[in-house]
Amino acid sequence: MLCKKLHHAAFRCKDAAETVKFYTEALGLKFSHAMGEDHVPSTGLYSPHIHIFFEMEDGSNIAFFECPRDPGNIKDLESPDWIQHFAFEVDSLDTVLKAKAELEAKGIKVVGPTNHDDFITSIYFFDPSGHRLELTTRTCDASRYQIFEEEAPVVLALWNQTHDWSQREKLYGSQTGYARNNAG
Ligand SMILES: [Fe+2]
Repeated sequence: MLCKKLHHAAFRCKDAAETVKFYTEALGLKFSHAMGEDHVPSTGLYSPHIHIFFEMEDGSNIAFFECPRDPGNIKDLESPDWIQHFAFEVDSLDTVLKAKAELEAKGIKVVGPTNHDDFITSIYFFDPSGHRLELTTRTCDASRYQIFEEEAPVVLALWNQTHDWSQREKLYGSQTGYARNNAG
């Protein structure tokens, strides 16, 4: 496969120092790199900025730009709040629940835990710039991944026909939730 793993996904932040404090203290990430330029390296456009990276256990990063002279919003304000988000994987449901308690003890409002299709279970909260974050853990047996992969094109095909889930029972034999006839 060409793409080996996540290196980084980058977002705009309001304040780099506030962002460093949040990602290192609330989530325990490593503040792994900071770089800055007056001109965007790839385009040459004038935009004094700092680009900061926070590293996870596997070496992947979430990154931010503080670019105070650029117009526009910090995040997408047109779409509903829950759409654009970044999900960190943790090792167990216990860790998800413990993280929820610890984040709430720090005054951070947390939504969840939410079970998604018996695939993952997640909690949600916002960083200081308003970006939605997710802590998630895999909750299904590894044998289920093959079923998910085989189902994916079929799920997409039904979506392309209806653009809602009024005919969900065609896939799952049920109108409610994701209950499958042959869940295994
Ligand atoms: Fe997600």
